[in-house]
Amino acid sequence: MSEAKRDAEVRPAGLTGSRPQGAMAQLSHEQLATTQRETLEAPRRRYGPGAKALFALLDAVYGKPRTLSKFKVLELVARVPYQSWEQVAYIAITHTHQRPDLARRVFDRVTESRGQEDNEQWHLLILEEMIARSDSREGWIRFTLFPQLLAFVYYQLSWLLYVIRPAWSYRLNADFEDHAEHEYAYLVAEHPEWEEQPFESVFAADYAEVDSVADLFRMISYDERVHKNESLAAMAAPRFS
Ligand SMILES: [Fe+2]
Ligand SMILES: [Fe+2]
Repeated sequence: MSEAKRDAEVRPAGLTGSRPQGAMAQLSHEQLATTQRETLEAPRRRYGPGAKALFALLDAVYGKPRTLSKFKVLELVARVPYQSWEQVAYIAITHTHQRPDLARRVFDRVTESRGQEDNEQWHLLILEEMIARSDSREGWIRFTLFPQLLAFVYYQLSWLLYVIRPAWSYRLNADFEDHAEHEYAYLVAEHPEWEEQPFESVFAADYAEVDSVADLFRMISYDERVHKNESLAAMAAPRFS
């Protein structure tokens, strides 16, 4: 292959496949509208104390209104459980390398976690892009320092719960994802003007080609539902089985 041709085929990270790490599904506008309706009608899970404390803290620091900046903090924290599970799983692989079947199952779990983590990363990148384009100003303490501290503490909690009893960590994440799914669905309902606003983003081709900003957030809400359901499924078989 010529050097020029090879260079032409080099694509930025995340663009190495046709649909590398985008949304968890490809849904039409009608399907997205249906999923939003389902979410709005579905009762929230009965959140555990850890999740309740986290949501109360977020409301206390960022207020109750659903702002893009608040969702950005949510997405920063959302990646953390997957990172903690990945770390535990890699340690487990080290200790199970003499049992290839088990090591393989653990690695499959790592791959699944990474897929969800990457999906959360797209959410975060899209929100950061939107916030950068808007005039909203974000203070350093509330939107840089505090989220990092929160993510650190949440990582430790997810890690510890996972080591003690994985189902506890999955449950905390299911609560978190359920909350995110509902919050995005309500966000769309609060912004009817987004129905007509096209989703224009440098990440559109990577994440999802949707008709409007409203459908973008419906898509993200649906992703959170998929994450929730994957955590609920993992709760049923929590030890690398
Ligand atoms: Fe997310
Ligand atoms: Fe999520």
